[in-house]
Amino acid sequence: MSNTIDDRGAHGPRQAGADAPRLVEADWRRLEELRRQFLAAQEGQPDARPSAWEGERDLELYDAVYGARIGWKWDAFLVDALRRVAPPHGARVLDLGCGTAVASRALLRHAPPAGIEAVHLVDKSVAATKVGARLVARDAPMVAITSSATDLSALSEAPPAFDILLASHLVDELSDDGWRAALRLARGASVVLWLEGGAKSTSRALQRVREELLDEFEPLLPCTHREACGALLEANAHEWCHRFARPPQEAFTTAHFTFASKRLGLDLRSLPYCGLLLAKPARALPRAVGRTRLLGRAKGEKGKAMASICDAAGVRRVQILERLGKQTVRAMVDEPGAVDLLELRWDGGKVVGLDVVEGP
Ligand SMILES: C[S@@+](CC[C@H](N)C(=O)[O-])C[C@H]1O[C@@H](n2cnc3c(N)ncnc32)[C@H](O)[C@@H]1O
Repeated sequence: MSNTIDDRGAHGPRQAGADAPRLVEADWRRLEELRRQFLAAQEGQPDARPSAWEGERDLELYDAVYGARIGWKWDAFLVDALRRVAPPHGARVLDLGCGTAVASRALLRHAPPAGIEAVHLVDKSVAATKVGARLVARDAPMVAITSSATDLSALSEAPPAFDILLASHLVDELSDDGWRAALRLARGASVVLWLEGGAKSTSRALQRVREELLDEFEPLLPCTHREACGALLEANAHEWCHRFARPPQEAFTTAHFTFASKRLGLDLRSLPYCGLLLAKPARALPRAVGRTRLLGRAKGEKGKAMASICDAAGVRRVQILERLGKQTVRAMVDEPGAVDLLELRWDGGKVVGLDVVEGP
């Protein structure tokens, strides 16, 4: 099914969650159930029913809490990503498994004015494409919005031409057919922005997307290199690539999010995510060499931190002495997201100096 939305509101871009609906007890119970199903799916429980939306209200509820939290991760990821690619002016976007179009709306917040011309939403749920389209129209009235309410593995007609493929919190819900269809579509994009949560199995699934597409794309995030993914080696089965976004003030200062956090057992202080940025060579900006990515959070020990790192030499665990930079080393342990990309100086296999290249 394809439809064009033209009931565009007159509002400008806004932050996710800024106008959360008033929630009643039944809404909170529904949010609890949606979370239960999501976690069951992530654990691979066979009877899990993630994203079994029962109507548009479900999506509005999702957007008020879970979608807002995902939007914060997108904010962090896009700040990083848009320093590394040059998407075409007036780009056309394909948002796979759009839900409430959290990804498209985040991109519209971060892209330069008139940077995005059109958004096509795909979701197997009609309710999702409707709510997603409504929210994109509200946030960006000038953007042309179309949608297909269909399972992406059964897209009967090719979607409209697109430059940027977005996917968000989708990989755990894809069947093998869905996975293959997503990869096929990704090959048609010049830029792929795919963000998932920070769980180990999810991150590995996303790195497999990278490996599949490496022949045509430059892997720009989270990778500092284009070698095979070191986290996928059997010897590194305990490692996984994930990063942390830092939550905005509203996560702690609004009654809505304070209550949501308590009621749903949702940690709003910690925003682990894995974000994959791939670009066809013509769209990739030159990459700085010799950089090292910190994987997740370092473990503090007396006078040092033990950190998992990734660079062109692979994924490994290293010791970083506090005397090399006490504040930085402490932040690696205590402030997830504060230290993310490093330049390390080595003597043999030992780290003897470090500089933080990019903070959040
Ligand atoms: C967890 S939600 C994420 C929604 C949104 N992308 C976000 O990040 O907030 C997953 C969405 O993917 C959709 N979905 C899952 N499998 C799909 C498939 N095979 N084809 C199309 N949509 C799919 C679901 O209906 C749901 O709306």
